[in-house]
Amino acid sequence: MKALILSGGKGTRLRPLTYTGAKQLVPVANKPILWYGIEEMVTAGITDIGIIISPETGQEVQTKTGDGELFGANITYILQEKPAGLAQAVQVARPFLEDSPFVMYLGDNLIQQGDLSHFLKQFSIEHQDALILLRSVSNPSAFGVATVDENGRVLQLIEKPKVPASNLALVGVYFFSNLIHDAINCIQPSARGELEITDAIQCLIDQQKRVTACKLEGWWLDTGKKDDLLEANRLILDTYLEKSITGEIDAQSSVIGRVQIGAGSKVINSTIRGPVVIGNNCYLENCFIGPYSSIADNVILIDTDIEHTVVLENAKIAGIHQRIIDSVIGQRAQLTVAPRRPKALRFMIGDDCQIELT
Ligand code: DAU
Repeated sequence: MKALILSGGKGTRLRPLTYTGAKQLVPVANKPILWYGIEEMVTAGITDIGIIISPETGQEVQTKTGDGELFGANITYILQEKPAGLAQAVQVARPFLEDSPFVMYLGDNLIQQGDLSHFLKQFSIEHQDALILLRSVSNPSAFGVATVDENGRVLQLIEKPKVPASNLALVGVYFFSNLIHDAINCIQPSARGELEITDAIQCLIDQQKRVTACKLEGWWLDTGKKDDLLEANRLILDTYLEKSITGEIDAQSSVIGRVQIGAGSKVINSTIRGPVVIGNNCYLENCFIGPYSSIADNVILIDTDIEHTVVLENAKIAGIHQRIIDSVIGQRAQLTVAPRRPKALRFMIGDDCQIELT
């Protein structure tokens, strides 16, 4: 069994964060989203992992993630020249996949840990040609949508239908036998110009191959947008964070609940209420850090109040006398109060940023 993780694509929905990096490397609880997928594979016993990368962000993904040693896996990087669709990514990966059955995992998806092993067992025992995972959602038009009969047999799959036939969305984790390659060779690009894996699975269904669907009971997030990212951050901190303090905390500070503070970080006269993760070499002074916040390495926070917020590497926030909530602050961003007059707001805001002032 092999794994194919898709970490190419354009990442337009997470702009502006993805102007400077791969969306799959955006951290959730201070760990790149992509790494959760890799760890999930290794936990399920799959260590031969191919990762699809794009020319724009591939180098960054490769440098950060390495050859797999970090995870106990063997990683092969596969360059997809253009984001021409999930099925095209499988075509490009054919020399790596050979005729092996494989799990395909979309690198911006997060599923509850441990679920993969369970489905892998089911796929292997029942000798399926495809096993897909489904989840009820409130906005099915944003996903591949399935119609299933009362026995769980998949009748029809349509990619992002305008009028969805059900509320069952395709989760970004698929199990395939080598028959998927022939099916991909039968399909044509969709209206959005991509070779859709959804259409290839539909082709297997039309040929009466063994395609089953399982309902995913644990949580699943497609981290494409800011609110999804914050929700993923909340869920991971809520479920997995354990208390561990390596940095320094002065006597005037209080740290309550499950909080991680990394090496070289200093906390002065501040209150931190977990679950909160703070990376390495951060400096916090006169701050309140509320639940569900993740602060990456080398961040400076002074006279700052934040909650349910993700702050990326090397950002600086100082002297904002209002609580910051539900926010994502990008790498190297600076949010400060200038002492100079006239008292006014001064901005240098990148493309696609969203700022709400009251
Ligand atoms: O998240 C689940 C959904 O994922 C499914 O319900 C849909 O059926 C499926 O088509 C897919 O839809 P998205 O529009 O969300 O896919 P997206 O373009 O965001 O790509 C998913 C991942 O695959 C992302 O990490 C980027 C990567 N990718 C995407 C394309 C199109 C590639 O590596 N190569 C590609 O050519």
